[in-house]
Amino acid sequence: MKTAVVLGGTVPHIDLICQLKERGFKTVLVDYGANPPAKPYADEHIMESTLDKEAVLGIAKAHNADIVISTSVDQANVVCCYVAEKLGLPHPYSYETALDVTDKVRMKAIMHQNGIETSRHISISEFEELKSADLRFPIMIKPADSNSAKGVKKAENIYEAEADFELAKGYSRNGMVIAEEFVEGPEISAYGYICGNEPHVIMIQERISTYDGADKVIKCYASLAPARISEKAKENAAKTLMQIAKAFKLDNTPLFFQGIVRGDDISVIEFAPRTGGGISTQTMKKAANFDFISASIDSWLGNQPDFTKSHPVSRLYAVNQVYADTGVIGAICGWDELEKDGLIDIISFYRGVHAKTDASSAGSSRVFVMVVSGDNEKQIKEKIGAVFSRIDVLDENGRSMIRKDLNLADIEFASIE
Ligand SMILES: Nc1ncnc2c1ncn2[C@@H]1O[C@H](COP(=O)(O)OP(=O)(O)O)[C@@H](O)[C@H]1O
Ligand SMILES: [Mg+2]
Repeated sequence: MKTAVVLGGTVPHIDLICQLKERGFKTVLVDYGANPPAKPYADEHIMESTLDKEAVLGIAKAHNADIVISTSVDQANVVCCYVAEKLGLPHPYSYETALDVTDKVRMKAIMHQNGIETSRHISISEFEELKSADLRFPIMIKPADSNSAKGVKKAENIYEAEADFELAKGYSRNGMVIAEEFVEGPEISAYGYICGNEPHVIMIQERISTYDGADKVIKCYASLAPARISEKAKENAAKTLMQIAKAFKLDNTPLFFQGIVRGDDISVIEFAPRTGGGISTQTMKKAANFDFISASIDSWLGNQPDFTKSHPVSRLYAVNQVYADTGVIGAICGWDELEKDGLIDIISFYRGVHAKTDASSAGSSRVFVMVVSGDNEKQIKEKIGAVFSRIDVLDENGRSMIRKDLNLADIEFASIE
């Protein structure tokens, strides 16, 4: 029997493990946690860090692995490519490329060299270097190799920049920090699959974020599809995917980028040659009938995925992230009937009862996420209104701690052609 070593027991990897089994693989899950969500589905669980490349290499050797795979976590992909290269196993791109695409210093430099539009920036390890840079404020300051907007801040002036630099540096594993000019405009995530010269755009979502509270913490509280951008901008998103693929020598791989749309033009913030995290693979299965998990396995094995069943997104989709204030969760209420009542398509929890929330970080204050869809603006708005009137998150004293203000009530949706 063939053996697949899966790095990370995340929610999307439940589906990955099940599909690998269907394809005849024995599955060995590596996750340092004792009870990751995907553990019950795997044939074997080894408690080890997915980021420790030598440890994973040892596990892959010991199990005679045929593939070492991860679909949605940057750093785990790096380890997969490292181990695969050492053992001569199939993998979607080289270890060197994996490093290029997971370090913003390398990523931004290669984008600039290849004429991919991305905001002006500097890569620094000391704050002094920022003082002499000629960047136009506001600027975004971020760790080179983090994710989920951890340590990412918008600085309006050099004084804010100093504190933001220290924060970003604290999150940066390689000690490098990126400072780049802020770009104004709607933000999108464009998800595609690169196959030869074809970008196969599956879905373009618009990300709705706020700079929350006194500390202006970036919280993305919803994603909409279709994005409210011009047809020309959509074409440019497809071209951008292809440009990235060419510059980074990517082929036969999922690829998504985040960018800011200015008129018809796109300025790339970052990209990743993998599936999106969280429930994005489930959302795209629902909205476009494209299976990114299956496609990821194909990408690893060097097969071409099946594009024949997927279709353009033909309804309105809103992915709603539900946030809470700082505290300890006592109860999450009202969600259990929503699916049955046809108000939501998908729901997934980040944390449960007794878990702590910390409003000073987006990742630490999200409680759950739910996907609402509609045939038109009126319908989707009514559904979102009904959903938010029924749900609540209570603290241990029974007080409401949900952030109902972070919702799409006042947004105008694009219309479906
Ligand atoms: N140059 C920029 N202009 C405008 N907004 C930006 C810029 N860079 C980052 N952002 C905002 O910050 C968020 C997080 O930045 P990103 O570079 O994607 O970091 P991460 O890797 O943590 O996701 C983005 O989703 C976007 O909302
Ligand atoms: Mg990002």
